[in-house]
Amino acid sequence: MPIVPATPEVIRHAAQALARGDLVAFPTETVYGLGANALDARAVAKVFAAKERPRFNPLIVHVPGLAAAERYAVVNDMARRLAEAFWPGPLSLVLSKRPACGIADLVSAGLDTIALRAPAHPVAQALLAEVKLPIAAPSANRSGRISPTTAAHVEAELGDRPAMILDGGPCPLGIESTVVSVVGAKPALLRPGALPREAIELVLGGPLAMAKTNHRGASPGQLATHYAPHTKLRLGATSVRPDEALLAFGRDVPGGARLTINLSASGNLEEAAAKLFGALRELDQSGARTIAVMPIPAQGLGEAINDRLQRAANRG
Ligand code: TXA
Ligand code: MG
Repeated sequence: MPIVPATPEVIRHAAQALARGDLVAFPTETVYGLGANALDARAVAKVFAAKERPRFNPLIVHVPGLAAAERYAVVNDMARRLAEAFWPGPLSLVLSKRPACGIADLVSAGLDTIALRAPAHPVAQALLAEVKLPIAAPSANRSGRISPTTAAHVEAELGDRPAMILDGGPCPLGIESTVVSVVGAKPALLRPGALPREAIELVLGGPLAMAKTNHRGASPGQLATHYAPHTKLRLGATSVRPDEALLAFGRDVPGGARLTINLSASGNLEEAAAKLFGALRELDQSGARTIAVMPIPAQGLGEAINDRLQRAANRG
C-alpha cells in the first residue's frame, strides 16, 4: 500500500523517488498533488498517463518561492506584487517561460507560458526543500474527476500508480489554487480558487479580467465538465425528493433526503470549501438518484465553490 505518514525520513525517501523519475503524491494546503520532477520529460509523461489526462492540459509547477520561480519564468512587477502578497499560498501565476529553463515542454503543453505556485503546506515545503527540483503536480485524481483532499482519496483515484502517497492529513483549504495569468497587459482570472478574487483585486488595485472558459489558448484545463461525480447533480435546490441526496448549506435545510451533508450550518464559506470534495464523494456513494445542491452565495470563496459545482453538474 503506497500511503505513508509524511515523517521527515519518509519525505527524504520521497525526494529520492522524485529525483529517480518516480511519481509521488503529496498534500498541499489546497488539494493533494501528483508530483513529478518537472525537468524530467519521462517523469512528466508518467503524470499524464497515470491521470489519463489530455496532453493539451498543462501542469502547475511547484517551487519553494519567488527566487526559484525566477529561474523558470519572467517575473514582472505585477507577478512580483502578487507573489509577495500571497506566496507561499493558494495562488498559481501564469508567467512567460524562460527559454532553455530546463522545464520539460510537456509540462506547459507546448505553450510559451508556465504556471508556478509556492505551496504553503509544511509537507510540500519540506519535500521541495529536500528535492531541490521544481515539481510538476496536478491534482492527484483521474482526469475529469473529483480532486482529492485526503490520502485515501488519492489511493481511491490512482491506486499504486504513485510510488508513494505522503499522508499529511486532510487539506486545510480543500479547493484548488486560484490561477491568474499575468502575461498580458491586464491580469486575468483563469480559474477561481482558494484565494478569493477580492483579495487579489485589493493588491492589484483594480479588477481582474475574466478569462473565457474552454478557450484552449487561455486556460486549457478549464474544461466545462470536470470534478464529476457519477451521480447527476441538481443545482439551486430548495426542496428535496426522497430518492435524492442533499448537499446542504446554511441553517434552513429541507428534510427528507436519503442522505444530507451540510457544508456549513453557520454559512461559513471557508468551512464549505474544505468539506466540498469529500462531501461530493460521500454523496456520490449513497446510491441516490441525484445529488440536490442548495444555493451557495457567489462572493469570496463562493465563486470557486460554485465554479466546481457548475462543472460537476455539466456532464458530457
Ligand atoms: O491547488 C492546485 O493548484 C493543485 C495543487 C496540487 O497545487 N493543482 C492543480 O493542478 O489543481 P491541475 O493540473 O489540476 O490544474 C492546473 C490548472 C489547469 O486548469 C491548467 O489548465 C492550468 O492550471 N494551467 C497550467 N499551466 C497553464 C498555463 N501555462 N497557461 C494557462 N493555464 C495553465
Ligand atoms: Mg485538477
